[in-house]
Amino acid sequence: MCGIIGYIGREEATPILLKGLKNLEYRGYDSVGMATKSDRINICKGVGKIDRAIIDFDLTALKGNIGIGHTRWATHGVVSVANAHPHTDCKKSVAIVHNGIIENHQEIKEKLKAKGHIFSSDTDSEVIAHLIEEKLEQDRRGFEKACMEAFKELHGSYALLAISRDENRIVAARKDSPLVIGLAESGTIFSSDVSALLEWTRKVVYLQNYDVAVACKKEVVFHSLMHDEQISRESDTVEWNAEQARKGKFEHFMLKEIAEQAETICRAIQQDDTVVERVLEEVKKAKGIFFVGCGSSYHACLTGSYLFSKVAGVHVNVVVASEFENYEHFLTCDTLVFAVSQSGETADVLDAVRAARRRGSRVIAITNVIGSSLVREGDELLLMNSGPEICVLSTKTYTSQLMLISLLAYALAGRKEECSSLIKSLFLEVCNLTSKSMHEDLKMLAGLLYQKEHIYMIGRGLQFATAREAALKIKEVSYIHTEALAGGELKHGPLALIEEGTPVFAFVSEDNWDKTRSNAEEVRARGGMVIGVSARDDEVFDYWIRVPECRDFNPVIQAIPMQLLAYELAVKRELDPDKPRNLAKCVTVL
Ligand code: M6R
Repeated sequence: MCGIIGYIGREEATPILLKGLKNLEYRGYDSVGMATKSDRINICKGVGKIDRAIIDFDLTALKGNIGIGHTRWATHGVVSVANAHPHTDCKKSVAIVHNGIIENHQEIKEKLKAKGHIFSSDTDSEVIAHLIEEKLEQDRRGFEKACMEAFKELHGSYALLAISRDENRIVAARKDSPLVIGLAESGTIFSSDVSALLEWTRKVVYLQNYDVAVACKKEVVFHSLMHDEQISRESDTVEWNAEQARKGKFEHFMLKEIAEQAETICRAIQQDDTVVERVLEEVKKAKGIFFVGCGSSYHACLTGSYLFSKVAGVHVNVVVASEFENYEHFLTCDTLVFAVSQSGETADVLDAVRAARRRGSRVIAITNVIGSSLVREGDELLLMNSGPEICVLSTKTYTSQLMLISLLAYALAGRKEECSSLIKSLFLEVCNLTSKSMHEDLKMLAGLLYQKEHIYMIGRGLQFATAREAALKIKEVSYIHTEALAGGELKHGPLALIEEGTPVFAFVSEDNWDKTRSNAEEVRARGGMVIGVSARDDEVFDYWIRVPECRDFNPVIQAIPMQLLAYELAVKRELDPDKPRNLAKCVTVL
């Protein structure tokens, strides 16, 4: 999973590509590269993040007003200059950048090798450039045709851009990996997502599976790879603006996005009433409901299952999307699947959605990204309205998912208005949670914890789901091993891990005070350091994070200080909170 960008137009391509790559860096950041076309193809690529790359090898020197760029998150082949994109054919007459996985690359590679092609990387992507070269030689109908013939042989997922030394155009194609075209005043820009385009335009075309777009300096023409014919694609205007995708006064996107939550939780419940009504009807008539998601979105699903049960008396099955295939045989045309994904492009989620559709089940998509695959593949859409989230960690989108699911649970119980006013009343509470004094307290706590090797988190019910999300936040950004447990499970084994000074966070609500408190006592009795996250202090706590008691909304209220703590732990350990190692914002591989 990577970020790709391309430009063709009046301007020099390099400055646009560099800015675009910087905007896309959150999608992958182990290596970076660009190719431009002048009278030849000029390529520059290397290992590392983009700022380093600009200094270490001269990315800015590439000339031409046609170019493509790539920021990589390695899947096939180690992180190396040879494996960085763009990749070329034997003659360096074609260059390509690719996001996705070519499943039949071995087979294609063997065939091409037998014909004399020499490969210089271990990637699956390089076969695309050689395949285009081969098609150019077999059938001299030009670059565009050669690309289309080559693309037809690819199995797997791709968003890809190709340029030729001999023609002034970019040929783009998409299948199961995102690709969007920005129609800017000075030219056409291709990108893996809209937020990278906002600097130049809000007028976009979302490519669909098996679309090919051919952009020359004046126009973009669309073809269908499936039907071998020219097609038309309408443009959309994006509601997000460039300011939303900038850090502004904040040191990191993570901090900015945490701070936005007082507003984003309120925006999440601004939904079209008729759509909500239709979704409620689907829930009522369904015989079997599943919530599926990955990572933080899975934790929102888990929270949702407790809320649906508690508030609406409705049973839902919660499944990590990558495990959904084990439940596929339960799906029928009466099953309802809620697919929850911030990006709407997570391959595991899309795979689950496709399985559901094959069985005739209905799918409700909950996502933040309007042009995403999930939007197209769901039967109904609930948009999270969080604005662009750039940091690799989900923060504001997680709490928006919680709000949307709470709204559905309350609406099912006939308490929709009550839910809206409760959420509005959270605005001030959330502002307090992100205030300077809270932040200072958490900074101090981070100072106590940042050298710890292990952190544990316990909670029951909604607080168990929150503990899981808090543990994910801390581990992914600070690399401290953090594990969440259902409070009652502690005594069944994990208690053996508690030593003198082991930090254990206890997420407590008035609903489960006594039981969780006694679990905290068990920790304390073994010398563990108990950090309470609750509305009241208790002698069992060595340290206390004070949050208001908000019952069904505790998952939002208790998650926010944990996001800030995770941020501070990363800063204290001199890590980049926006781009944790080995991770990417949008995981488009299975
Ligand atoms: O875009 P999605 O919500 O489908 O992404 C799912 C996970 O990849 C995501 O939540 C991931 O776990 C984040 N790094 C969490 O901060």
